[in-house]
Amino acid sequence: MSKLILANFKSNKSIIDTNLWFEKFLKNIDDSVLSKLDVSVAPSFVALVSAEKVLEKIGKNVSLSIQNISSFPAGSYTGAISGQNLSGLKIKYAVVGHSERRKYFGEKSSDVALKVTQSLQNGIMPILCVDTEYLEEQFGLIDKKELEKCIVAYEPISAIGTGKNADVGKVKGVVEKVKRLAGNVPIIYGGSVDEFNINEYLMVTDGALVGTASLDADQFQRLLEAVS
Ligand code: PGA
Repeated sequence: MSKLILANFKSNKSIIDTNLWFEKFLKNIDDSVLSKLDVSVAPSFVALVSAEKVLEKIGKNVSLSIQNISSFPAGSYTGAISGQNLSGLKIKYAVVGHSERRKYFGEKSSDVALKVTQSLQNGIMPILCVDTEYLEEQFGLIDKKELEKCIVAYEPISAIGTGKNADVGKVKGVVEKVKRLAGNVPIIYGGSVDEFNINEYLMVTDGALVGTASLDADQFQRLLEAVS
């Protein structure tokens, strides 16, 4: 598997700013950089349609992802975005259970388990975010066969958006633990990843989730170019 680098824009950027980001990034990034990696970008839901048009126009090897998915199927769930709402769009990955969803929206491990099911049922690969305190509880609530189809993202809360990226030795230990508990699933790291530290994490994981360092197209390009 190529190393996965996923840009997570969170609630940043208007539709226009998202389009501008895609135009700039896709025009400037070299195909030779993209061909070695699996690069995906998760803008806000409302920017997905226009971002896909820019991607189709410029035609580069970059996919779209989502930052969340409803725990329910299509139906009477006001305000939720179901897998069916997204059909027709080419979405590769769904970030599920991000710690910001837990912190600000009260998401529980049981909700996240339902999101894994919804992602898979809609042909979207779940990127299951965990921190060490609830890793075992979270894995225990997911059907074993579904867990084996996830990519696990180890995201220590203390490292997210703080500039305090985790110790690589610690990440390596968690990778081993995840493999023991969940089987041989791909594991990525997230938390203050930037162009200067990315290679350390790629030595011990299958990729990275990048928040802050993805918001500027040039900075994200430099991060990808730094991957050795
Ligand atoms: P950060 O965000 O790169 O800004 O730390 C990462 C994440 O939340 O996935």
